[in-house]
Amino acid sequence: MADILENRKLLLIIGGGIAAYKCLDLIRRLKERGVEIQAVLTGGGGKFVTPLSLSSLTENKVYQDLFSLTDEAEMGHIRLSRENDLILVAPATANMMAKMANGISDNLATTTLLATNKPVMIAPTMNSQMWGHPATQHNLNVLKERGTLIIPPADGDLACGEVGTGRLAEVDEIISNIEAFFLSSENSNLLKGKSFTVTAGPTYEAIDPVRYLANHSSGKQGYAIAKALRDYGANVTLVSGPTNLEPPAGIRILNVTSAREMMEATENSLPADGVVCVAAVADWHVNNPQRQKIKKRPGAIPTLELIENPDILKSISNHKEHRPRLVIGFAAETENVTNHAQNKLENKGCDWIVANDISGDVMGGDRNQVQIVTKEGVSEWPYQSKVEVAQQLAKQIEDFFKDNK
Ligand code: CTP
Repeated sequence: MADILENRKLLLIIGGGIAAYKCLDLIRRLKERGVEIQAVLTGGGGKFVTPLSLSSLTENKVYQDLFSLTDEAEMGHIRLSRENDLILVAPATANMMAKMANGISDNLATTTLLATNKPVMIAPTMNSQMWGHPATQHNLNVLKERGTLIIPPADGDLACGEVGTGRLAEVDEIISNIEAFFLSSENSNLLKGKSFTVTAGPTYEAIDPVRYLANHSSGKQGYAIAKALRDYGANVTLVSGPTNLEPPAGIRILNVTSAREMMEATENSLPADGVVCVAAVADWHVNNPQRQKIKKRPGAIPTLELIENPDILKSISNHKEHRPRLVIGFAAETENVTNHAQNKLENKGCDWIVANDISGDVMGGDRNQVQIVTKEGVSEWPYQSKVEVAQQLAKQIEDFFKDNK
């Protein structure tokens, strides 16, 4: 199969941020995949990487100056903005986002962005206070509404010495986003007319009005699968437990808290062609959660009586009226992954199990290694980002519906 990135044309605009150095690795990796890259270096970007390193890696001229006669003669900003399949701004600073949101065009990069008729993707990076500032968040929303694709900054240590949200996304993550963009434009019809329900995130089971039982699920894998199916043109309903994730555009989202609510919402979403149960559903809920906060009393430790929750995957797999054609479950295991997954496939009555070993940092993390267990056998997928797992799964789902018309 041809690489989705091969022969794509990318215009990379490098803004002024310490993380600009990551662009060199990004360019190298994209070039290896056959992407043709033109680079525009802003004044700020030029403080962190040199035009020479960029032109060596891109094997192209690097554009810097709006009023350079030779540049204009060879490739003006209009052509630069039109002759590529995608424009990526990485790193995108707070200042760059503000200019983009307001249509300011005071240098080659911003003029190109204003003149373009091509999709634009940005990878912001900045100090976490700057990121959280209402002005930046407002600009972000303006850009999103306008259709700019956003690769959100990551959490962690920032160059300024503080800790928070604002790190430039890792190169792998940026590449996954670029792949997803091209896949979605290429595949946007393949599951058209098909409907899917995806469950995601944890469930919270109340103990009293302030306390609950829960787990470490972040919802990232389920959200990524919902988005990947959407990108294939499917109608997607996402039944989500409590998460910190942004509701994805173009997806019907049903927010729930407990396992029983998740069960009801999932059943109500039927009929569907496929259901993917990614949620880490609590196995039990508390019998008679207290209506008032349980007070601490010396020597009196409360005992919780637990009652089994409904098994959503099992009940959808055995649904009398609306059994979807494809039901996929996940198996979160800490040992004997394949065996447990094979047992789950049998017990639950679903068609595929995506099994993962969650003993590392899978829950809450960005990467995952999974096995796909079906009645036909087991296939092991590489250690990759959750976005890549989602894309590979969506592809396999698409193949299933193609082969089982
Ligand atoms: N699941 C579900 N409803 C439940 C419990 C689990 O739909 N009440 C689904 C999960 O979404 C997942 C699959 O069942 O797709 C397996 O979940 P997992 O937690 O790995 O297994 P359990 O069935 O809970 O079994 P155990 O905890 O014993 O491993």
